[in-house]
Amino acid sequence: MKTETARELLNRAITVKEKAYSPYSKVKVGAALITASGKIYTGVNVENASYGATNCAERTAVFKAVSEGETSFLAIAIASNLEEIISPCGICRQVLAEFMTADAKIILGDDKQLKIYALKELLPLSFDKSSLENGVNDEV
Ligand code: THU
Repeated sequence: MKTETARELLNRAITVKEKAYSPYSKVKVGAALITASGKIYTGVNVENASYGATNCAERTAVFKAVSEGETSFLAIAIASNLEEIISPCGICRQVLAEFMTADAKIILGDDKQLKIYALKELLPLSFDKSSLENGVNDEV
């Protein structure tokens, strides 16, 4: 992936984070993904008074895209208002693995920094669709 494309996606994440609904943590997270068909979907974290009902920005972007019929993503960028750059939580990594290949890109950063990882670096030894391909073993 070209650095300019990654920066463009990260800028979308930086901009959209302002729409975060996070009255409890005050943490604003934005995500922007690009589909295999070239469309960009953004998302923010949406918190809830029942804290566990919170949805992360990454999953918001994924669920928006899937709702529009897109199920293959090339890259996702994530930005927040925290001092340190953040990386996706475990639940989001698992959800991303459903719709991205192991080599798909996770872009992390802010206005100054930009780091690109492959999904497989963030979620090694993943349990995914391929884990289910060979069926069950009734003898176990
Ligand atoms: N959050 C995200 O949206 N994405 C992440 O990758 C990590 C955490 C949100 C959830 C919650 O609203 C706030 O950040 C603090 O955990």
